[in-house]
Amino acid sequence: MVAGNKSQESYLEQEQLDPRADTVLSELEEWLEKQASKSAEEGDALSGSQSHKNLAEDIIIPITYNEIEDLLGRGTVGQVFKVRLQIKNQKLSANPPPKFALKTFPPRGIRTKHDFENEISLLQALAYRPHQHIVTHFASWTHGFSSYILFPLADDNLRSFLNTEPPPQINTKFTLWLLKQLKGLAEALDRLHGPHIDYGDSTEPVEIGFHHDLKPANILVFKQSGQEGVVLKICDFGSGRINVIIPQESCSSPCTSNPGTGDPAYCAPEILEEGKTSRPKDVWSFGCILIDILQWVFAGPYFTPDQFRLARMEFREGQYQGYSAFWYKDPKANKVLLKPPVEECLAHLRLKTRENIVFSGIYTLISKMILTDPRQRPNIGEICNGLATLLKEVN
Ligand SMILES: Nc1ncnc2c1ncn2[C@@H]1O[C@H](COP(=O)(O)OP(=O)(O)O)[C@@H](O)[C@H]1O
Ligand SMILES: [Mg+2]
Repeated sequence: MVAGNKSQESYLEQEQLDPRADTVLSELEEWLEKQASKSAEEGDALSGSQSHKNLAEDIIIPITYNEIEDLLGRGTVGQVFKVRLQIKNQKLSANPPPKFALKTFPPRGIRTKHDFENEISLLQALAYRPHQHIVTHFASWTHGFSSYILFPLADDNLRSFLNTEPPPQINTKFTLWLLKQLKGLAEALDRLHGPHIDYGDSTEPVEIGFHHDLKPANILVFKQSGQEGVVLKICDFGSGRINVIIPQESCSSPCTSNPGTGDPAYCAPEILEEGKTSRPKDVWSFGCILIDILQWVFAGPYFTPDQFRLARMEFREGQYQGYSAFWYKDPKANKVLLKPPVEECLAHLRLKTRENIVFSGIYTLISKMILTDPRQRPNIGEICNGLATLLKEVN
């Protein structure tokens, strides 16, 4: 498979990150620090967090981008741009200045403010427990009525990667790369979810979190230097939350009753039955992402996440919320079922993976992650263990 060889080379290759990025970032940090204290002197309160800065409206931020050419992505609340940092009089930020990604939250009401506050508070909490598969932020600031978060610049997101990359050649090198990425993403989620304790057992406060908008578009693709080649990282924490709870005082883990957040395509069915979701929603969404990935690997019946989404949308019986979800409610049986295109895709994957111990193992994990009853799904810690066991098979 010539195309497969070519594509594999392209995403397993190693690329150097711009070595000047670190220096320019410390220059920015210094500059922001100076501007923020100036603004504070002029009467603007500094925000409570250490790294978030409030800047006076008349300050000119040393960042340049073109709103059309540099647009990387557009979401429900804001836009993400490829930007250059150019701090005046600093020799290291000269020609050409290194690039970053800037997520912008324009002043568009409550929803934007809520998403920004959610995202920045999660990113700050996660900065204390960094993980290689969670995107880190470099700085954030509020300037006038808009807020901004500066990130490392990714090469792609997983949705467009799976939509455009030809299927890979399945060999040991590829299998090892894929398993490491999947295990890394699962461990990143495990870090966010926190301990899986028996409620009622402990009186110690614990931190429990969730993402609640996992989907291929919210996984960034980075070409890294070193052994890893391409690295996948979770981004977009606008729908997430981290709560501190006392297990003995809580009958279940924290949940959200706001079904409006997150992409309905990757949303779990309990939102219909129970009106709220918690950590198992992330496990469901991660299972759906794994289906998209295996479909790419094994040239499944719908080939790409976008074609698969269209096929799910064509099936309208018992529809609820987004037509693009992986499930529907059968009105006759009064039961939540997987949509026929999803069943068809799973049957294809079961057949294709049955002679490969690693991929059939991933298939088995998927089938547990997309159980319609959230109580029957494994927690993310169990998925990590399952992937670690499979990794041992390859090593
Ligand atoms: N650090 C980054 N580097 C490159 N592209 C990014 C980066 N962060 C986000 N993007 C692109 O912008 C899109 C929207 O970003 P995201 O954080 O998901 O915002 P939203 O909340 O609007 O969905 C992503 O799907 C991705 O394609
Ligand atoms: Mg997003």
